[in-house]
Amino acid sequence: MFSRFKKPESGPAAIALKPVTSSGPVAPISAAVHKPVAVTTRPNPTAPIARTPAEAMASDKEKKKKEKMAELKVELHKRLLDNLNLSALEKATEASLKQEIASITAEALDEMSVALNAQDRQVLHQELYDEVMGLGPLEALLKDDTVNDILVNGPKRIFVERAGKLSLTDITFKDERHLLRIIDKIVSAVGRRVDESNPYCDARLADGSRFNCMVPPVAVDGSLVSIRKFKKEKLGVPDLVRFGAFTEEMAAYLQAAVATRLNVIVSGGTGSGKTTTLNALSSFIDGSERILTIEDTAELQLQQIHVGRMESRPPNVEGKGAVTQRDCLRNALRMRPDRIIVGETRGEEVIDMLQAMNTGHDGSMTTIHANSSRDAVSRLENMIAMSGIEMPIKAMRSQISSAVNLIVQASRLQDGSRRMVSITEVTGMEGEVISMQEIFRYERLGLEANGKIIGRFNATGIRSAYSDRFKQWGYDLPSSIYEPIV
Ligand SMILES: Nc1ncnc2c1ncn2[C@@H]1O[C@H](COP(=O)(O)OP(=O)(O)OP(=O)(O)O)[C@@H](O)[C@H]1O
Ligand SMILES: [Mg+2]
Repeated sequence: MFSRFKKPESGPAAIALKPVTSSGPVAPISAAVHKPVAVTTRPNPTAPIARTPAEAMASDKEKKKKEKMAELKVELHKRLLDNLNLSALEKATEASLKQEIASITAEALDEMSVALNAQDRQVLHQELYDEVMGLGPLEALLKDDTVNDILVNGPKRIFVERAGKLSLTDITFKDERHLLRIIDKIVSAVGRRVDESNPYCDARLADGSRFNCMVPPVAVDGSLVSIRKFKKEKLGVPDLVRFGAFTEEMAAYLQAAVATRLNVIVSGGTGSGKTTTLNALSSFIDGSERILTIEDTAELQLQQIHVGRMESRPPNVEGKGAVTQRDCLRNALRMRPDRIIVGETRGEEVIDMLQAMNTGHDGSMTTIHANSSRDAVSRLENMIAMSGIEMPIKAMRSQISSAVNLIVQASRLQDGSRRMVSITEVTGMEGEVISMQEIFRYERLGLEANGKIIGRFNATGIRSAYSDRFKQWGYDLPSSIYEPIV
């Protein structure tokens, strides 16, 4: 227990006023101890604030224990860096390193006359291991499979998304310097640097997770970090049907659409499940086809064997060497693809994507950030206009309408559930307007007391404009799937 924690004779400030890393001096521990740590003391902001004196004492005790543990960790981490043979770290096995950490820690604790119970000691060993080998406090969240996103707002506020819902954790960094050290570890591993003149960066963690950071002074209250966890087991169509993202009928329709090489756009808001949907849809592509994927951060995991993956590259520190999605796409057209999949179309590559869809690479797919199918078309128009191409609006729309066959709208509803709220076909032009018809939609019927949305998927009653095509390709969908439930 921490009641047995003894301070060394000279007081807490003597424990660690020295640098934790070689990058500069760390703030005195005593200052850090007196910093407000509101987040750790109140992990659930929605809980009532009123506390009994006993609860207040328990929480103060917990807070003090955490502070002392953090203090101890800084000192031990420093000692570890002094004592471990860093060049041998890469070859060391996890078990041998943990053993080494345990023995250095035991020696240091002895020297500092600090007694810890077995459980605290184990937590400390794990945290020290994560500091030396991994990403410190983030490591536990990265290992937690229920976490989808990790969002850091400065050193003391780490949020996670589980099952579509955001919540504040009681995990914290010691201070901004600690957070910056972890950020630096991540970005330097991919040859990048963040500082005042380069305050933000995209990167990929060793496990494939997507990482973005922005550091002060642009990030006003401390560094901002967003991590989209990489899922080894990607959600497939059966999983998504099981989770209620769409129905089996919709899955059968989508299978026919993808297999018969319709050009598909998955549209949706941030974190709505666009990439997941795109990945699941790709499973309907025949194994004999050559597929090229282009992404800013490689997230897609196609199951086919004939897949060429490309990842764009930002400019280096001197502003040179950038390879954009557009560069990849243009090159891809010379690589004899049967299908091209662009992770997310967000800029100038739009025109090449539409041209590819129009010129023999039918069956291509991409995602777009938009809130409805109509909106997705407007986004395409805007992107074309922004890319500097002067084109009359009618020509632009006719280009879009002949390139895009299907728009699938993904959405994260307010209860955290992710649903495919609409499947819409693009059928051509009427005058200057792109004509579309919705085939399936999600209907909201009400709200349960616990905030869960009650709803159902329904057909609109409109038969697919591609029914004949589906039939010719051997996908004879029963007409009943287009019949609405009333
Ligand atoms: N239907 C679903 N049910 C449960 N979880 C889902 C579902 N769809 C997606 N997810 C999870 O939600 C998270 C976000 O999904 P995804 O990366 O596909 O979103 P996105 O729209 O591409 O996000 P972004 O806009 O950031 O690129 C992932 O962790 C994914 O595993
Ligand atoms: Mg995505």
